[in-house]
Amino acid sequence: MHPLQCVLQTQRWGPLASLSWLLLRTCRAHSSVPSTACPSLERQQEDGVRKDFSSRLASGPTFQHFLRSASAPQEKPDMEDPPPYLTVDELLGRQRKVYLETYGCQMNVNDTEIAWSILQKSGYLRTRNLQEADVILLVTCSIREKAEQTIWNRLHQLKALKTKRLRSRVPLRIGILGCMAERLKEEILNREKMVDILAGPDAYRDLPRLLAVAESGQQAANLLLSLDETYADIMPVQTSPSATSAFVSVMRGCDNMCSYCIVPFTRGRERSRPVASILEEVRKLSEQGLKEVTLLGQNVNSFRDSSEVQFNNAVSTNLSRGFSTNYKPKHGGLRFAHLLDQVSRVDPEMRIRFTSPHPKDFPDEVLQLIHERDNICKQIHLPAQSGSSRVLEAMRRGYSREAYVELIHRIRESIPGVSLSSDFIAGFCGETEDDHLQTVSLLREVQYNMGFLFAYSMRQKTRAYHRLKDDVPEEVKLRRLEELITVFREEATKANMASVGCTQLVLVEGHSKRSATDLCGRNDGNLKVIFPDVEMEDVNNSEVKVRAQPGDYVLVKITSTSSQTLKGHVLCRTTLKDSSAYC
Ligand code: 5AD
Ligand code: SF4
Repeated sequence: MHPLQCVLQTQRWGPLASLSWLLLRTCRAHSSVPSTACPSLERQQEDGVRKDFSSRLASGPTFQHFLRSASAPQEKPDMEDPPPYLTVDELLGRQRKVYLETYGCQMNVNDTEIAWSILQKSGYLRTRNLQEADVILLVTCSIREKAEQTIWNRLHQLKALKTKRLRSRVPLRIGILGCMAERLKEEILNREKMVDILAGPDAYRDLPRLLAVAESGQQAANLLLSLDETYADIMPVQTSPSATSAFVSVMRGCDNMCSYCIVPFTRGRERSRPVASILEEVRKLSEQGLKEVTLLGQNVNSFRDSSEVQFNNAVSTNLSRGFSTNYKPKHGGLRFAHLLDQVSRVDPEMRIRFTSPHPKDFPDEVLQLIHERDNICKQIHLPAQSGSSRVLEAMRRGYSREAYVELIHRIRESIPGVSLSSDFIAGFCGETEDDHLQTVSLLREVQYNMGFLFAYSMRQKTRAYHRLKDDVPEEVKLRRLEELITVFREEATKANMASVGCTQLVLVEGHSKRSATDLCGRNDGNLKVIFPDVEMEDVNNSEVKVRAQPGDYVLVKITSTSSQTLKGHVLCRTTLKDSSAYC
């Protein structure tokens, strides 16, 4: 059976299937400790809870509970309606301190705040001090082998923390959340006995229950992927009050099945959040004074809100010209152009960005909108992955080099001055020296402003793992990667040189990390701009001199550049609608 089919079958059964993932075992580390060895009150209570819990678990959920679960597929865990083996009290955090650590992509950063929002509501406290933590949760990434290795290493360090924990304190609980939990499932519990809970990317609502089970010394997991979970009603907690920008998750999952990629297996099927709930979140962020929102999704521009029947009368999907999909054409729903249009109308002073898009979903109406709307940044990430049509076919990307280059031309014609970035993989299965040189030539031809370059890492379950050979030797992959990085840097430096002498609109973030006398912000293309922190005029009040604060827009004249950063001097404080950056 194809692995995705297996995932889908699990999804169809909803809460019933989740029972099979409620892996419960006696945690050896705790059961081997004689309960009388150090009879602290907390520990005695713990043992009592464990016995009580085990007897309730042995009597198991009632038949009515199964019926209730089965009649409401995708039902969200409910604090007022706990499973029969837990009381409402046991689901509460009781001021336990949670330490969250995030790995991987921006989606994971956002997921961390979703997980925290859920735990906060349950009565947990957050700590930034590892030593203080009662619960440590790692939000993990599986995209490349190296990302997973980092987590294994971290787990070894945490093991020491758990073993050394004073017996007068409540036992430390460790949880693995996100993609690695989903990919490795019980392998993690088997390899690392000190891991107490596993929660896949769609199971964060279940965290209070999983932690309550772990309280009794059992391991617990929920790795159920969902067809509709978007956490639409959960407003992630803004961690830094001085933040100028926020990420808003608009869709989750991926249906593309590129042959190298684990994401469809770890994050499940594509589903979008209703437009109304996204707009509500953006409005709240605008009221809080935030000046920039980045719409987030694994394939953000494949957005399709089908939450209401009337949305489904819409015409069929327009793809970018020359692009195709690995799945059957989809119809109806409110599409990305609609979302972008609505979001950009919320607050004309709020910059809008989006990431990460797929090149197939850039129909002309999206490009037109980006061009027309002042507050939509003229910045597009267009992951190419390779410059060789032969390799693109093996990757099942659904386009040739020619179609990709044509799209680049169309984007540049539609959005003059657009800033472009891309992802590339060096050393994919079967990549020859000639294929590699074609990638080099694409980097030269497009001259990206930003780039994210990776050596290919074979992932189990993917199509490439089953059908192709990982035949490019490691040293060749690394050498090719180095060459791509060098070429990318040379071209980005040239591309950025073009902005010397230009005046750019910069959103101030704060002081530069390297110098307390400099400020740092981002231009429309999302490049870092550094400039001296001096007094300046305000365009709306020439009488006063001001110092720029985080969240202010300023005009900066660019004087020098590197491949990553621009430098300049500040001209004045302004607003987004009062300014048009010029060269
Ligand atoms: N090996 C290396 N890089 C990968 N990416 C995705 N899967 C792999 C893999 N197996 C890269 C792609 C993608 C980015 C997020 O990570 O370039 O766009
Ligand atoms: Fe890593 Fe992809 Fe999961 Fe993000 S979605 S954490 S990049 S595997």
